[in-house]
Amino acid sequence: MAEKLIGACIFGQSGGPTSVINASAYGVIRTALDAPEITKVYGAAHGVVGVLSNILYDLDKEDAGELELLMNTPSSELGSCRYKIKDENDLRRIHEVFKKYDVRYFFYNGGNDSMDTCQKVSDYLERVGYECRVMGVPKTIDNDLVGTDHCPGFGSAAKYIATTVAEVSKDARVYDTGTITVIEIMGRHAGWLTGASALAGLAGIPPDFIYLPEIPFDMEKFLDNAEKTYRANRNCLITVSEGVRYADGVFVAEAATSGTDGFGHAQLGGTAARLAHAIGQRTGAKVRGIELSLLQRCAAHLASQTDIEEAYLAGKSAVEYAVSGGSGRMVAFEREEKNGAYHCGIRFQPLSMCANTEKKVPREWINEAGTYVTQEFIDYVLPLIQGENTMKIENGIPRFAKLKKIKAGV
Ligand code: F6P
Repeated sequence: MAEKLIGACIFGQSGGPTSVINASAYGVIRTALDAPEITKVYGAAHGVVGVLSNILYDLDKEDAGELELLMNTPSSELGSCRYKIKDENDLRRIHEVFKKYDVRYFFYNGGNDSMDTCQKVSDYLERVGYECRVMGVPKTIDNDLVGTDHCPGFGSAAKYIATTVAEVSKDARVYDTGTITVIEIMGRHAGWLTGASALAGLAGIPPDFIYLPEIPFDMEKFLDNAEKTYRANRNCLITVSEGVRYADGVFVAEAATSGTDGFGHAQLGGTAARLAHAIGQRTGAKVRGIELSLLQRCAAHLASQTDIEEAYLAGKSAVEYAVSGGSGRMVAFEREEKNGAYHCGIRFQPLSMCANTEKKVPREWINEAGTYVTQEFIDYVLPLIQGENTMKIENGIPRFAKLKKIKAGV
């Protein structure tokens, strides 16, 4: 039995938000508020940036009912960042802030870059002999964290994408003259989200082609496929990842060169418009490029209840594990079967396994031509999009959490 560690905790959110990252926040905050070992619960404003600049919120002072509304509130309620730890000065500063507030638990909610932050903090504190339990809580709509069956946030984005592609597919077929529609979906280096558009097929209206970043993009083949399908059926619906690249690694995205985020990743976007334009030039057809953009990661009204519950579980498990003595790990999901039905189990894996690496869609889950996903892919995603959420509605629109965000130490 590990010794009881008494002290405060800090929780922070990092990277791109999801529809359910605040359900993980609630899992951490609620469990930490209830844990006798945890004396105070602080929220970092904009993740590690808030720690570095000593802007922490006193979450003990929030109304319990508002905190509970986090379960159905999209975006990162405490604010997020894409900040890469620069050097020992950053780590020293974090250590100082931890000492100031007697922080003995640090929970960081993010993707692979954020797990790197988490690991650096964990390693440093261990090196300087400051006792603090550090845990990673996974999230990312991209579903590309290594070592976990899937990531909180993915199921909800996948459900939104499948639904939206089915809806657009209906609309895009109305004219006698036909149309060609290109829908651009997020996921910089992994095609999990774009592949999820195949689930529109379960409503009988699948896309004709799906282009993932795992397969080098060939513009000529792309245009040929679109043109042939359009000539044969008078319509063509294509989904494409924002991260599709040519064989030389250059992004198709027009905006790829426009800037990078704090983790050094290219900001993508504009691919659908660019490809729709190219198809229009080739075929003379009526074309439309649609970028799902932020809509796919903040559509809390269409979040998967399975995803919401698992996101909460991830946050809760991180706190329980830390309080019982664990540290330096990320919560990971394991797919299990109970009485023939999908069940999500929990594991705790070393942060080093998930920091800075990406899980791609396996080649065998993509068809030979590289233009669609297989049935195995669909079977993998299907359980994750199940369940309708029961969010609170006021005045006909969702009632999201309104936190007071009272600054600590002032
Ligand atoms: O966090 C993942 C992600 O949602 C990617 O799918 C997307 O490329 C990126 O974030 C966009 O990030 P930002 O909000 O920084 O533009």
